[in-house]
Amino acid sequence: MEAGTPGGISVQDEAVDKSNFKKCNQIAFYRRQKLLRPGKSLYRVLLDSVTLSDENVKFQIIHEGNKVLLQVEIYEIEGNIFRLKIDEASPLRPRYKVPDVLIKEPTTQRLLISHKEAGILVLSSVNEDYKLRVTANPFQVELQSKGETVMSVNSNGLLYFEHLQPPPSDRYTQNEEALFLFVQEKQEDLGLWQEKFGSFLDIKAHGPTSVGMDFSLHGYDHVYGIPQHTETLLLKNTSDGDAYRLYNLDIFGHKIHEKIGIYGSVPLLLAHKPNRTSGIFWLNSSETLVDISTKAVAEHTPSRSAAETAKQRAVPLTDVRWMSESGIIDVFLLMGPTAFDIFKQFAQLTGTQALPPLFSLGYHQCRWNYEDEQDVKAVDAGFDAHDIPYDVIWLDIEHTDGKRYFTWDKKKFQNPRKMQEHLRKRKRKLVVIVDPHIKVDPSYILYAQAKEKGYFVKDRNGQDFEGICWPGSSCYPDFTNPDVRKWYADQFAFKTYKGSTNILFVWNDMNEPSVFKGAELTMQKDAVHYNNWEHREVHNLYGFYQQMATAEGLIRRSSGKERPFVLTRSFFAGSQKYGAVWTGDNTAEWSYLKISIPMLLTINMAGISFCGADVGGFIGDPEPELLVRWYQAGAYQPFFRGHSNMESKRREPWLFGEKNTQIIRKAITERYVLLPYLYTLFYRAHTAAEPVMRSLWIEFPGKMETFDVENEYMLGKQVSYSLQFDLNIFEVLHDKKKTQKLWEPFCLGFVFLQIPVFQRGGTVIPLKTSAGKSTEWMIDISYELHVALDAEACAIGELYVDDGHSFQYLHKKQFLYRKFTFHKNILSSSLVRLKILQIDTNIKEIVRKSTAYLRDKKDKSGDLQVCNTWSVYIF
Ligand code: GLC
Repeated sequence: MEAGTPGGISVQDEAVDKSNFKKCNQIAFYRRQKLLRPGKSLYRVLLDSVTLSDENVKFQIIHEGNKVLLQVEIYEIEGNIFRLKIDEASPLRPRYKVPDVLIKEPTTQRLLISHKEAGILVLSSVNEDYKLRVTANPFQVELQSKGETVMSVNSNGLLYFEHLQPPPSDRYTQNEEALFLFVQEKQEDLGLWQEKFGSFLDIKAHGPTSVGMDFSLHGYDHVYGIPQHTETLLLKNTSDGDAYRLYNLDIFGHKIHEKIGIYGSVPLLLAHKPNRTSGIFWLNSSETLVDISTKAVAEHTPSRSAAETAKQRAVPLTDVRWMSESGIIDVFLLMGPTAFDIFKQFAQLTGTQALPPLFSLGYHQCRWNYEDEQDVKAVDAGFDAHDIPYDVIWLDIEHTDGKRYFTWDKKKFQNPRKMQEHLRKRKRKLVVIVDPHIKVDPSYILYAQAKEKGYFVKDRNGQDFEGICWPGSSCYPDFTNPDVRKWYADQFAFKTYKGSTNILFVWNDMNEPSVFKGAELTMQKDAVHYNNWEHREVHNLYGFYQQMATAEGLIRRSSGKERPFVLTRSFFAGSQKYGAVWTGDNTAEWSYLKISIPMLLTINMAGISFCGADVGGFIGDPEPELLVRWYQAGAYQPFFRGHSNMESKRREPWLFGEKNTQIIRKAITERYVLLPYLYTLFYRAHTAAEPVMRSLWIEFPGKMETFDVENEYMLGKQVSYSLQFDLNIFEVLHDKKKTQKLWEPFCLGFVFLQIPVFQRGGTVIPLKTSAGKSTEWMIDISYELHVALDAEACAIGELYVDDGHSFQYLHKKQFLYRKFTFHKNILSSSLVRLKILQIDTNIKEIVRKSTAYLRDKKDKSGDLQVCNTWSVYIF
């Protein structure tokens, strides 16, 4: 089969066909849940059932209609987190509970019952800062912080829980067969036991299992998060349209400003108001929909006098309704109170960003495809010939023998080891694609082994699930099975993966998983995984598990010594632990460059700092100015890779005329000079869960004018980047609540020569004095510090350095972490953490030089220039 023409259909044609994908009203569980309207909940707490232990408070709630009992567990978790779990009290069979996402069983704290009166149960945290007011009838929970109501649960009565039932055929005797058929027909629209979409039929072996609940966020009208959508930073009201969908899908040619889920999902929502940030982490890996509605309501004060009532103010309130197809309700309420607290709380549950090997923060050159060994060498040489730094060249699916991953096309890549040795000498790396689908071919060892061991996902009849992907007929390893993950990880061993060396790293793609001609181009929900779980339960975890196994494989091939680099397209909460993600198949249009910023900011907020968008736009051909501007944007984003589709024209950075080459060179060079700062930020992401790329509101939580800004952002605390389309003017946020208009110096001709990047006053940022051919070439290039003073003529900053590739920083504490302070005209450096001697970066020398420079400047021009907000940052 021709590459790019799965099943003979042009990818492009298939891509734009929107009818391949469901709208919300074509999703049966959504329709069912929407039948329940806001109002009084039918659930009531059985107060007699309340039990309190060191771990949690448990009680049962009963549905007044069907009399089904649910078990509620409330936990307080160390660090201002509350967890609410709701499951059936006695289910027919266990319901799916998401494993492997929480890094450990959270440490709980004992809740106290501080009050029990008629129909009300008040639980307090140990320090009494938080109170949970549980109302019995109807069942509701209100979370208060020092008397202020922050969130309430089920206050709109939308708790929804479909309990497991025996199949209808078991419930009717033969005589009643006619009745059964009638009921089934009547219920078809509700999709209880089966659901049709086009020609696809999803048979639900366990019937309807949907769950849902509503949360009211008091005082909030700004909510963020729940990636991945091609939408604005600020989540929109969904009352008049589609809900935000969290369902990992491969939508080639996806449009922008849509709420359909693409590629990856992190069910974490953040709400922010000037004095507080809160979070809701809905731990469920089945298809999930989120409805959002913001309104103004009368201020909520627990006890109010008549006079107070008269003076009532209108305050904002955001209602968030989560609906999932399956599983249980397991929700973490993150109480902040700051955005940085939320990031820590989420990381405490799901882990922090893996510390990337330094090379992976350099520039990556990718294309579908670099054709053969000669092409690879020529592109590599092109970077040197044009004096453009880069670290990694990538090979897409065509490098394999007929899309059999872990193999090489013998004609085009006759000696892959030699090619890698060539790259190694030039201090560069190679990334190759390893997709999850495995070609059905008994002579392909991977297929034969997996088949024999029973490692593939099964269809509902117990046969290996077969779908179509790049190689044609394919099977899909069941990564939810730990044995399969171990086997898969073993495939990366040097002796098994022939032709691989330790400069080869991995790209996991199509792992939603993508199944051409499948329902919504993915796997049937009734396919069956390890332990008999249906695909519907685990869908959003498939890519997460593949990346987990791949990262494990790369670590293991180095006997635990080297840090892996794995890029994945599909992801879930916690994917940050395994590497990087990118935003998939974007288009070479200005609007996609623009939307990439809020998309990346949202992914960063959800814990995954290491992310980027294809520079230039994957589909189509960018006009030169767009390409140049995209490089300038990508240079200041965490993952920086140029990539293009098979049908796109070649676009190596030197193909657009000398002037454009020069601007691209400058942008990439700036990136390399900035690497010490960026690497330090990644260390902070790794150790303190601080996102590398931050929306302005995170750094300026009290400034409402920043809350919806999505064309400017901060890289760490100290550098701000601004994506501006207006060539003449742009505005820079002033600390003093004003904006300042900056003119010209950034635009010459039709493109910006200077990227509008600013250093915040009061900061010191570490840089390299110049760039080199790649990160490895730069080891000996010295550092310099850029100091931008604040109004008090002070500044602070940090630098983290380690060997850039191994786990020695972790196991042997081999790293250097210094803090810089500029105060009273003296720049000093102090130890933040253990200093090791193996890294011979001479901090004293850097400090001495920077101080001398500043003195010199002072002698020549009197006082040092103070910039109480931003100084323009020009290399
Ligand atoms: C998918 C990926 C894209 C890749 C292509 C071929 O469309 O998103 O990046 O180049 O597959 O492997």
